[in-house]
Amino acid sequence: MLDKLQEMQSRAIAELQSVKNLEELEALRIRYLGKKGELTAILRGMGSLSPEQRPLVGQMANRVREELEDKLAVQSRLLKKQEQEQRLVQEKIDVTLPGTALPSGRLHPLSQVTRQIEDIFLGLGFAIAEGPEVELDYYNFEALNLPKDHPARDMQDTFFFGPEVLLRTHTSPVQVRTMESMAPRLPVKIIAPGKVYRRDDDATHSPMFHQVEGLLVDTRVTFAELRGVLQVFAEEMFGPHTKTRFRPSFFPFTEPSAEVDISCVMCGGSGCRVCSHTGWLEILGCGMVHPRVLEMSGYDAAKVTGFAFGMGVERIAMLKYGIDDLRLLFENDLRFLRQF
Ligand code: DAH
Repeated sequence: MLDKLQEMQSRAIAELQSVKNLEELEALRIRYLGKKGELTAILRGMGSLSPEQRPLVGQMANRVREELEDKLAVQSRLLKKQEQEQRLVQEKIDVTLPGTALPSGRLHPLSQVTRQIEDIFLGLGFAIAEGPEVELDYYNFEALNLPKDHPARDMQDTFFFGPEVLLRTHTSPVQVRTMESMAPRLPVKIIAPGKVYRRDDDATHSPMFHQVEGLLVDTRVTFAELRGVLQVFAEEMFGPHTKTRFRPSFFPFTEPSAEVDISCVMCGGSGCRVCSHTGWLEILGCGMVHPRVLEMSGYDAAKVTGFAFGMGVERIAMLKYGIDDLRLLFENDLRFLRQF
C-alpha cells in the first residue's frame, strides 16, 4: 500500500508538469484528491491492514496529500499569471471608442430660482437667515402686528399643532427672530428663504410653497432705498429692460405698504393674456417696517427705520420660465423637470 501511494504520487507529479491550463489542473486535482479520487480509494483499503501498519500508511497518505496540494497551488498560481499575461498581450483596448454617458442630475427649478435670488441679494450685501417651519403664533402673527382677532389672519389660515404652535404661513417671522437676536446692533440686512404653509390648493396655490423674505434695518433707511434694491433685483432676475411699479397696499407689519409689479415678461408691457392685458405682473409685497414691529423686536423706532419685502418663489419661477400650472413644480415628472 505504501508502494501504491508512492507510485501514485510520482504519477500525479509527472502529470502536473504537462497541465496546460486551469481547467486541466482542476480536473487533475479531482482525479487524485477529490471525494471519488485515487487517494480516497487507496485509503478505503486501509481496513484490511494490520493495526501496526495502519498509522504508517495514514501518515504517508497525509504527506502525499499535503505535497500534492502544495504543488497544485504553485502550478495554479503560475497558470493564472500566464493566462493574465497572455490576455494583456492579446486584448487590445481602443481608448478612442466613445464611452458610456451617465445621465447627470440637476437642481429642481425651484432650487435654481432660490439660488438665483440668493445670489442677487448676497451681491447687494445681504446675509442669509433661517427660521423654523413649525413656528409659534407669537412670531408668525402677534409680533408682526397681527393680534388674535385681526381680520388679516383669515387670508393666512394654516395647520395648527395647538393654540400657539403652527406651520408658518410666511417667512416674515424670520424678520422678528433675526431682530430679536441682533438688537440693538445695526445694520440688520438679511434675506430668509424657506418653506411656508397655507390652507390652499388649486392651480395657482399649493398647501406648501416657498418664499424669500428681505429685511434691512438701520439708521436712515428710506423707501427710496427699497425701490432701488427691488429695481436692481427685478433687472437681475428678469432682464435689464424690466420696469417696476409700486402700488399702495396693506400689510399689518409695514407702513406704508406696497405691492410691486414688473413689466410683463411675455409682452414687455404692451398687454397680453399672461398679464390680463394690463402690461404688469405682481411679484411681491413690501413696505417700511411698522414702528410697532421694530419696538416689539427690541429696536428704538425713534432712531431706526427699515424696509421689508416678501416674494413667492413659485410665482417668480412660473413667470421666469412661462409655467402656467403651479402643480407641475411638485409632480416630479422628469419630462417637465429636464427642461430646466
Ligand atoms: N408676508 C407677506 C405674505 O406672505 C409678504 C410680505 C409683504 C412680506 C410685505 C413683507 C412685506 O416683508 O413687507 O403675504
